[in-house]
Amino acid sequence: MLTKHHTSEAMSAEYVRRANVRDLTIGIMGLGYVGLPLAEAFLHAGFRVLGFDTDQRKVDLLKAGKTYIQHIPDDRIAAMNSTGRLEVTSNEARLHAGDALLMCVPTPLNAHREPDISYVRDTTEMIARHLRPGQLVILESTTYPGTSDEIVKVILEKTGLRSGVDFAIAYSPEREDPGNIDFSTSSIPKVVGANTALERDMAVAVYEAITKVVPVSDMKTAEAVKLTENIFRLINIALVNELKAVYQGMGIDVWEVIDAAKTKPFGFMAFYPGPGLGGHCIPIDPFYLTWKARAHGETTRFIELAGDVVTQLPKQVIEHLSEAMSSHLQKSVAGSRILVVGLAYKKNVDDMRESPSLHLIHMLRERKATVDFHDPHIAKVPVTRDHPEFAGMESVPLTEKALKDYDCVLISTDHDAVDYEALVRNSRLVIDTRNATARIPDNLKAKVVKA
Ligand SMILES: NC(=O)c1ccc[n+]([C@@H]2O[C@H](COP(=O)([O-])OP(=O)(O)OC[C@H]3O[C@@H](n4cnc5c(N)ncnc54)[C@H](O)[C@@H]3O)[C@@H](O)[C@H]2O)c1
Repeated sequence: MLTKHHTSEAMSAEYVRRANVRDLTIGIMGLGYVGLPLAEAFLHAGFRVLGFDTDQRKVDLLKAGKTYIQHIPDDRIAAMNSTGRLEVTSNEARLHAGDALLMCVPTPLNAHREPDISYVRDTTEMIARHLRPGQLVILESTTYPGTSDEIVKVILEKTGLRSGVDFAIAYSPEREDPGNIDFSTSSIPKVVGANTALERDMAVAVYEAITKVVPVSDMKTAEAVKLTENIFRLINIALVNELKAVYQGMGIDVWEVIDAAKTKPFGFMAFYPGPGLGGHCIPIDPFYLTWKARAHGETTRFIELAGDVVTQLPKQVIEHLSEAMSSHLQKSVAGSRILVVGLAYKKNVDDMRESPSLHLIHMLRERKATVDFHDPHIAKVPVTRDHPEFAGMESVPLTEKALKDYDCVLISTDHDAVDYEALVRNSRLVIDTRNATARIPDNLKAKVVKA
């Protein structure tokens, strides 16, 4: 452990040396969708890992070799434990043992759609209570440019220790894409920003052990990189949904258009329409920049317009569903039975934060429909921030008998584990917001309305 006072050059050189021989304890604060796979990557690289979470349930489960994230199964947790190099704790006094402390805590929006950085602040204050010379503190949570300088650095320097001299700070955004089998922590390059070369060397040495590193000149640039990536997605998702509506009116299938357009080897990137925006990132992160831009007297009209477009999507889906029920079944939504297929915000994951499916269920219930759901990855709805009233709802099995009980099936998320041909065959009417039924036989397609 580095406990003596060091010159900054000596601190950095010694740290890099130890990173290269894996003689560091990497502390991960927040063992969620981001922190847990990161802990696994550092264990795999040969480091000691100190996993810290304030949620005692998660700590207990991990210690018992059990998972709480479906795409990171029990055997991977057991393998992490069996290295003998993992300590999981909720005891903040143990933070002292971390040579690096990586914060992977939530950065949501508050009720006024403004950044809620209380988790970042709380975590940093916790670190400050145990900070010692030679430690490297890195924020990984997505946030607005300036957070690391204005919050993390300021809180840590109140201890009397100086960043870049006594201890080091860096920012490195997380690019984890849960459920994506093509990319994992070790195959996604990591952007790392620090305000001095010595601090950057330390952070780069840590991350180079697990993946390719892209250093940038300071922390706020690294913060801006992450927001730029997610704003790019928001704008393009809004655009492709607008195109869908336009093309639909012209009798053109937007999915066929995208599939053909993406054969262009340059200058086009495929984004797909859907029933709304979901997940912890895209509906939230762009508004971190909007908020910060305001403080600099700048407006973000493009971002806000994209936000408005995607906010309208669930309403448009319900309108399509209502029209289709009327024309195909001569029924209104009120009094009907509707099954929503796919509750998670995207395919093949069990994460339902900000999922548009929740808004759709809410809107259908407001219109007096009876609504159930099926999701192969979510057996029972937990308490969610926006819709606590759905807690306890259970996934309906997709049997022939169950499907025949519904007037209409609304495909909201296109999980691969669903047999869409059987689903359409046994349903009266299917509203498909994801083109999940693209490959069913032509004779079944009359029952499907794309929305
Ligand atoms: N989930 C993703 O796909 C993804 C991708 C890229 C970036 N991010 C960003 O990464 C950050 C974390 O996201 P996530 O999806 O892992 O969130 P998560 O909710 O899955 O995990 C956060 C964890 O932090 C814990 N926590 C809260 N306060 C704490 C504290 N003071 N000390 C220690 N632990 C604490 C929570 O108990 C939870 O286990 C966010 O900023 C998010 O925007 C997420």
